[in-house]
Amino acid sequence: MAPCDFNGQVALVTGGGGGIGCAVCLLLAQEGAHVMVTDINLEAARQTLSKLSSPEKHLALNMDVTQQSSVEGAIAASRDRYGVSPSLLVNSAGIAHISPFLDITRPQLDKMIDVNLKGTFLVTQVVTRALLEEGRGSGEGRGAIVNISSIAGKAGFSDRSHYVATKGGVIAFTKACATEMAKKGIRVNCVLPGYVATPLTEGIDQNILKWYLNKTPLGRPANPAEVAEVIVFLLSRRSSYMVGSCLEVSGGADM
Ligand SMILES: NC(=O)c1ccc[n+]([C@@H]2O[C@H](COP(=O)([O-])OP(=O)(O)OC[C@H]3O[C@@H](n4cnc5c(N)ncnc54)[C@H](O)[C@@H]3O)[C@@H](O)[C@H]2O)c1
Repeated sequence: MAPCDFNGQVALVTGGGGGIGCAVCLLLAQEGAHVMVTDINLEAARQTLSKLSSPEKHLALNMDVTQQSSVEGAIAASRDRYGVSPSLLVNSAGIAHISPFLDITRPQLDKMIDVNLKGTFLVTQVVTRALLEEGRGSGEGRGAIVNISSIAGKAGFSDRSHYVATKGGVIAFTKACATEMAKKGIRVNCVLPGYVATPLTEGIDQNILKWYLNKTPLGRPANPAEVAEVIVFLLSRRSSYMVGSCLEVSGGADM
């Protein structure tokens, strides 16, 4: 298969210190992008950076997706270092929490929406504005964005209604944003992973895991690299006719 060949494009990955984010950064670096590994946890971002080949070509930054000034700071850092703002974006920052619907508190709900939904919205808006402001390129291929929803955003699991609601929101947001941005040369798509072995799912209850794997035809969790492959494909020109697609990467669960 032909390489994605990002040819020195700048790629910003949120949650780049996490399981899926790290796998995406590794693949993007391998495919020739300058990677901005951003995370609210700077140490985790630095750890990802240290795993990339030629780390000096890339950047690890503290960035909180809920804070506009923090996201704008990352754009400034990109212009400073690479002379341009990012043209590739992966919204991988996210949080999860398990609780019955009736017990979820207002602060828990607000935090979930702030990070998973408003964070994805805000970062996409700031990155897109910066890219369009620079007036680089025209027509198709100006930029590409991939959001991370979840199969839970489609299937509606119990005991995490706030998480599920944000992930359903990410699907709807992806399609709406994709509709507007395609005309400006920026493709927006998203992935719906099933169960992926990452720090997010580390402490999962063994009974829940067993139940989930039982309904997963492949019968095993995904490796983060298997999700990253699809994300990087959606960022590349190899998916040039895909707009607003929400791809399930779930081993067949909840298809
Ligand atoms: N692991 C799974 O099974 C699974 C399944 C479906 C969807 N997802 C989604 O994939 C994405 C990545 O998940 P993961 O499994 O890699 O989780 P992870 O916990 O390994 O990584 C998430 C990263 O996001 C960062 N983060 C949290 N709040 C942030 C904020 N306010 N600003 C910036 N960064 C912040 C964390 O520090 C962490 O490094 C999430 O959106 C998650 O909901 C994961």
